Amino acid sequence: MAFNDFSMDNQWLPFTPNRHFRQDPRVFVAAEGMHFTTHDGRKVLDGISSLWCVGAGHNRKPINEAIKKQLDTLDYATAFNASNDQAFKAAQMIAHMAPGDLNKVMFCNSGSEAADTSMKVALAYHRARGEGHRNVFIGRERGYHGVGFGGMSVGGIPANRKVYGTALLPRVDHLRFIHDPVNHAYIHNQEPVWQDDILAELETRILPLHDPSNIAAVIVEPVAGSAGWYLPPQGYLKRLREICDKHGILLIFDEVITGFGRLGTNFAADYYGVVPDMLNFAKCVTNGVIPLGGVICREHIYQAFLDGNAKSPDHAIEFFHGYTYSGHPVACAAAIATLNLFKEDNLFERAGQMGRVLGDAMHSALKGLPNVVSIRTMGLAGAVEMTPIAGAPGKRGYGIFLDCYHQGVLVRPAGENIVLCPPYIVDKAQIDQLVGTLAASIKKHA
Ligand SMILES: Cc1ncc(COP(=O)(O)O)c(C=O)c1O
Repeated sequence: MAFNDFSMDNQWLPFTPNRHFRQDPRVFVAAEGMHFTTHDGRKVLDGISSLWCVGAGHNRKPINEAIKKQLDTLDYATAFNASNDQAFKAAQMIAHMAPGDLNKVMFCNSGSEAADTSMKVALAYHRARGEGHRNVFIGRERGYHGVGFGGMSVGGIPANRKVYGTALLPRVDHLRFIHDPVNHAYIHNQEPVWQDDILAELETRILPLHDPSNIAAVIVEPVAGSAGWYLPPQGYLKRLREICDKHGILLIFDEVITGFGRLGTNFAADYYGVVPDMLNFAKCVTNGVIPLGGVICREHIYQAFLDGNAKSPDHAIEFFHGYTYSGHPVACAAAIATLNLFKEDNLFERAGQMGRVLGDAMHSALKGLPNVVSIRTMGLAGAVEMTPIAGAPGKRGYGIFLDCYHQGVLVRPAGENIVLCPPYIVDKAQIDQLVGTLAASIKKHA
C-alpha cells in the first residue's frame, strides 16, 4: 500500500541534507519486528535499531499495551512538587539495574537533556560542598553528548560545534581521541592494547593547565558511538576513574547508546567494571517508543544536595532544575514494560550472542574490500571505516547509505564510517542480509 497523502513542504529535517531528501525521500509509515514499511510500500530492514533505540524490535505489544493502559489511567501529572507512581517504579527498576551505588534517578526526555542535566548536577554538587570554583569540564575529541549548549561544548564532533563560537561554554577542554588507525584498525570484541599511555596527557597537560582543583567533571561515552563506534583502550576507563578520584573530579558516563544492553550487559559500566558518579541514559530505556532520558547519580551526589541544605527551611528546593515532562507517567510506563520485556526475553544476553555473529560477519565479509581501512566491532554494533573521497568528506558514506536503503537495508553513515547496530532480536539471516548488502554497496562505491 502506498501512503502519499502528505506534503513535504513544512518539516525541517534534523541532521539531514534537506535539499537532497526531497529528490529521494525516505519515509516510514509502519514498522514490525525488524522491518519498516515505506511510503511507497517497500520493506526495509532496520540495521540501526532506529538510531540505537529499538533494542526489542518494533511494535512490541507489551510496551504498546502498557502505554495504552497508562493513558486511560493517568495521562499526565505535574512533575514539580508532586510525582506519579510510574515514575517511582521506573526509577526503582533503573536503580536496581545500575552498578554500585548509582541509585538516584533524575528523569528528563532525551540524551541531550541528560548531558546538560548531569553537567548542572556536577556544578551544583561542587557548590553545595563549598567548591564552587570547580567549573571546568573535560570532554573528549569526537565525543557526542547531544545538541544542548552544555553537551555541544563538551562534545568533540567539529561539524556540530563550528558555527557556535563563543556561545559554547568557555571553560571546557578535551581529551585526545581514542583511535589508533595503525595498530588497531581491526578489532573484534577486544580491548585495544596501546603501547603509549593515552591518558598521560590528562595528568601532565590538561589537569595542570586548569589546575585539578578547578575541574568539575570528566564526561565520556564509554564507547564512542556517534563518531563511529570507537572502543576504549584496555584499562582506559578504570584509569580515568582513578585519576578523577585522586583529584576530586566527578566522572560522568554518557550511556545514551551503550545503556540497556548494547554490549550484552545492563550498562557499559558493567562491561568495563567501572562505576561513574553519574550515568546518562535515554533511547533504549523505552525501546525508543516514547521520549525518556535521565541521569543516575551515586548516593554521595544526592546526599551532598541534602547536606548542603541541612539548615534550610522545609520549603527550600535543593536543586533548581527539571522539565515539565520529567518522569512523564506514560513514558515511565513504557520504560517499565520495556525493561520487563528485555528481562523476560533475555534480550541483553541475546545482544551479546548476536554481537559475536555480527562481528564475525563484518570482519569476514568487509575486510579487504575497496577503501576499507578499519572495522571495529563490540557488543551488538560495528563500524566499517573507509577512506574519504578526495575533497568530498562524507560523500562515500552517504552514497553507501542511500544505496543500502534502496536495496532494503537501513545503515547509519557517520563521517567515513558506516555503522550497524541492529535490534537485539536480529537473527543470523538478517545479519547476513545486512552485511551482504553493505559489502555489495561498498564495492559499487569503489
Ligand atoms: C552518547 C549520546 N549522548 C547524547 C545523545 C543525544 O541524545 P538525544 O538525541 O536524545 O538528545 C546521543 C544521541 O545519539 C548520544 O549518542
